[in-house]
Amino acid sequence: MSAIAGNIQDGRIITIPEVATVEEIRDEIREVKTFYLSIDDRDIWSQFKWKSGQFIMLTVFGAGEFAVSLPAAPEDDRFHITVRTVGKVTSALHALKPGDKVGIRGPFGNGFPFEEIKGKNVIYVAGGIGLIPLRSSIVHVLQKKNDFERVLVLLGARTAEDHMYKETLAQWQKGVAGFECHLTVDVATLGWTGEVGFVHTLLDKAKIPIENTVAFVCGPPVMFNTVIGELMKRGLSDEHIFSTLERHMKCGVGKCQHCAVGRTLVCTDGPVYTFRQIKTLGEEI
Ligand SMILES: Cc1cc2nc3c(=O)[nH]c(=O)nc-3n(C[C@H](O)[C@H](O)[C@H](O)COP(=O)(O)OP(=O)(O)OC[C@H]3O[C@@H](n4cnc5c(N)ncnc54)[C@H](O)[C@@H]3O)c2cc1C
Ligand code: FES
Repeated sequence: MSAIAGNIQDGRIITIPEVATVEEIRDEIREVKTFYLSIDDRDIWSQFKWKSGQFIMLTVFGAGEFAVSLPAAPEDDRFHITVRTVGKVTSALHALKPGDKVGIRGPFGNGFPFEEIKGKNVIYVAGGIGLIPLRSSIVHVLQKKNDFERVLVLLGARTAEDHMYKETLAQWQKGVAGFECHLTVDVATLGWTGEVGFVHTLLDKAKIPIENTVAFVCGPPVMFNTVIGELMKRGLSDEHIFSTLERHMKCGVGKCQHCAVGRTLVCTDGPVYTFRQIKTLGEEI
């Protein structure tokens, strides 16, 4: 058990990172890798439970700590994170090898509102690595497919080489009845025979339902704003559109205010918000 009193609360690691081992590393797309991890202390690992939509704080020893979503759903076989190199800590993580150690705090944040969306059509619209935080929600919804109506993923990327989780999406398309996946690229490269155009152009091509529908949207700001505009133009209410906010985080537990946006703390109130809530925060996504 952790030697620090109060460090573990309800299975969450609060202040001192628990040491974990990098078991396997897989290349995803350019500058993006998936890291399979497990916490070394078996008691703490067995208590470690997370909800789809939550995040952890990951320490790369000697480099720093950063917030990272949990693309692995609780239903998945293996715990993993998927990370793009953007700065000092993520670059240090990408330099690690299987067997190396990292630190984990969390899980933190609210998670996706599955009870609220039961019985509805569920549309996931992602741009590039925006699919990472949505992955765990898709896994959960597909596991409970009978509780939902149509389930669609619309994914856009610069080129076909930049589509996240391509193999997993293909497996779901083969294996899960009723799962619909539509891909597009900004620029067609040699061999691409699918759709070309920004991801919002898939909304009509996929004949998305609007009645009894919720949408989860995640991606770069321009893509996000365009998709939201197009969804609302078609009649989807802002309270039926969800996204996850990313803000720079330090403590992860509502103490330091680093993640404050208006009156909300993304680490405790978020990271999942409805677009109606996001609009009131007075800050761009
Ligand atoms: C809830 C949550 C979930 C997340 N999930 C993921 C995930 O699943 N995968 C993932 O890859 N990332 C995720 N992130 C983003 C990740 O936490 C950040 O990118 C993190 O800052 C990376 O740390 P770094 O040290 O590598 O980069 P940093 O040094 O923090 O740099 C990150 C970016 O900010 C810019 N930057 C740095 N300092 C400044 C400055 N002073 N002024 C302006 N710009 C600056 C850099 O140029 C770079 O583009 C998530 C963030 C949050 C809050
Ligand atoms: S990260 Fe410290 S309050 Fe949210």
